[in-house]
Amino acid sequence: MEIILRAVLLLILLYIGLVNGQIYDVLEFGAKGDGITDDSEAFMEAWKAMCGCDGTPKTLLIPSNSTFLLQPLVFQGPCKSPFVLVRINGEIVAPINKDAWSNYKSLRWIHFKEITGLTIIGSGTINGRGSSFWKPKLSASKRPTQLHFQKCINLMIIGITSVNSPKNHISINQCENVNIKRIKLVAPHDSPNTDGIDISRSSDVNIFDSKIGTGDDCVAINNGSVNIKITRINCGPGHGISVGSLGRDGEESVVENVQVIDCTFNRTDNGARIKTWPNGKGYAKNIVFKGIKLTETQNPIIINQKYVDKGRLDVEESAVAISNVTFTDICGTSRGDEIVKLDCSEVTYCKDIVLEHIDISTVDGKKPLVECTNVYGKSSNASEIEGCFTG
Ligand SMILES: *[C@@H]1O[C@H](CO)[C@@H](O)[C@H](O)[C@H]1NC(C)=O
Ligand SMILES: *[C@@H]1O[C@H](CO)[C@@H](O)[C@H](O)[C@H]1NC(C)=O
Ligand SMILES: *[C@@H]1O[C@H](CO)[C@@H](O)[C@H](O)[C@H]1NC(C)=O
Ligand SMILES: *[C@@H]1O[C@H](CO)[C@@H](O)[C@H](O)[C@H]1NC(C)=O
Ligand SMILES: *[C@@H]1O[C@H](CO)[C@@H](O)[C@H](O)[C@H]1NC(C)=O
Repeated sequence: MEIILRAVLLLILLYIGLVNGQIYDVLEFGAKGDGITDDSEAFMEAWKAMCGCDGTPKTLLIPSNSTFLLQPLVFQGPCKSPFVLVRINGEIVAPINKDAWSNYKSLRWIHFKEITGLTIIGSGTINGRGSSFWKPKLSASKRPTQLHFQKCINLMIIGITSVNSPKNHISINQCENVNIKRIKLVAPHDSPNTDGIDISRSSDVNIFDSKIGTGDDCVAINNGSVNIKITRINCGPGHGISVGSLGRDGEESVVENVQVIDCTFNRTDNGARIKTWPNGKGYAKNIVFKGIKLTETQNPIIINQKYVDKGRLDVEESAVAISNVTFTDICGTSRGDEIVKLDCSEVTYCKDIVLEHIDISTVDGKKPLVECTNVYGKSSNASEIEGCFTG
C-alpha cells in the first residue's frame, strides 16, 4: 500500500514538474527563446543531459512566454530513465521559410527516436511555418514532417497544439502503446498533404478528445497498424479519417482492429474512408466506424479500391483484401448526393461489410444515392442501402 502511495505521489510530483533537481530547463542550457536565435544546440545539450542521467523521472522544460527557433533535430533514445517528460509550455517555431532550413531534406523537423516512456505534455504550440513548402507546390515527398515519432514505446502526447506543418503534423511509425489526447492540429483548408496524424507499423494507438483541421486526412491509418482506436475527434476542414492508402506499387499491407468512434466531421471531403491502390496485397480487416456525425460532408461513407493519385490504373491482378467492416450510427448531412460509395476490387471483393443505422440527408434535398460494386454484406435500419450488396 505504502509503495503504491509513494508511486502515486511521485507521479503527481512528476506531473506538476516539482521533482527537485530533475528539471532540465532549456534556458539554463543557453537557449535564448527570442524566436530569432537558433536554439537547436541548447535543446540538444539539455536533452543529452536529461537522457543520459539515470534514476528518477526527468523533465525537459520548454518554458512559457518564450519562442524557440529550432532547425531539424533528432531527440535520440534510449534514455537511462524509464520516464522522460518533455513539457512544452512555450512556443517552438521552424525557420522562417524553406531556404532558412539547415536541411529540409532530412524530411523531419522534430524527430523523437527509440525512446521508451516518453511523454510530451503542455499548453505550448509548435509552428512549422510551412507555407513556403506549400507554394510553389513542392512534391510531398520532399517536405518534412513536423513531429516524427519512431520506435517509441509507451508514448503519450497531451495538450499541445501543432500548426502549419510543411507536410503531415505527426507521424507515429514503428511505435507501441501510444496515447494521444487533447491535442489540436491546425493548418489552412487548402494546404496540401498536411495530414493530421499518420500511423504506420504501430500497435495499440489511442487518439482521443482532439481537434484536427488541417486540410488533409485528419488521421490516416497506414500499413502495419494494429489495434487503433480513435475516439471523440472533431475533424475538419480536411479529408476525414482514412484507412490507407494501402498497397501502393504492389506492396503488401496489413491493417487490423481499427475503431473510429463518436467522431464529428465538419465540411470534410470524406467521412469514413478506406482507400487502397490496385494490385496491392495483404488485408484491411476488423474495422468499425461508429457514432459519426457529419456536417456537409462530400463523401460520407467511401471505400475506394481503385485509388490512383495520378491516373495510371493498370489491369487489376490483386488487391488489398477488405473484410469485416462495420459502418454504424452514421448521421448528418452530405454535400454530395452519393452518401455511400463502396467501389471494391473484382479480385477480392469486400466481404462482411455491415451498414446499419445510416441516416444521412443531402444538403440540396435530393434523394441520397448508394453505389456499391463487388460488395458482400448486409444492412439493417438503412432502407436505402438495400440492394447495395452482391450477396
Ligand atoms: C508569462 O506572461 C504572463 C503575462 O505577461 C504572466 O502573467 C506570467 O506570469 C508569465 N509566466 C511566466 C512563467 O513567466
Ligand atoms: C507493412 O507493415 C509490415 C508490419 O509492420 C511490415 O513487415 C512490412 O514490411 C510493411 N510493408 C511495406 C511495404 O512497407
Ligand atoms: C463547422 O465549421 C464552421 C466553420 O468552418 C463553424 O462555423 C460551424 O459552427 C461548425 N459546425 C459544427 C457543427 O461544428
Ligand atoms: C470483426 O471485427 C470486430 C470488431 O473489429 C471483431 O470484434 C470481430 O471479432 C471480427 N469478426 C471476425 C469474424 O473476425
Ligand atoms: C431500427 O430503428 C428503430 C428506431 O430507430 C429501432 O426501434 C429498431 O429497433 C431498429 N431496428 C433494428 C433492426 O435495428
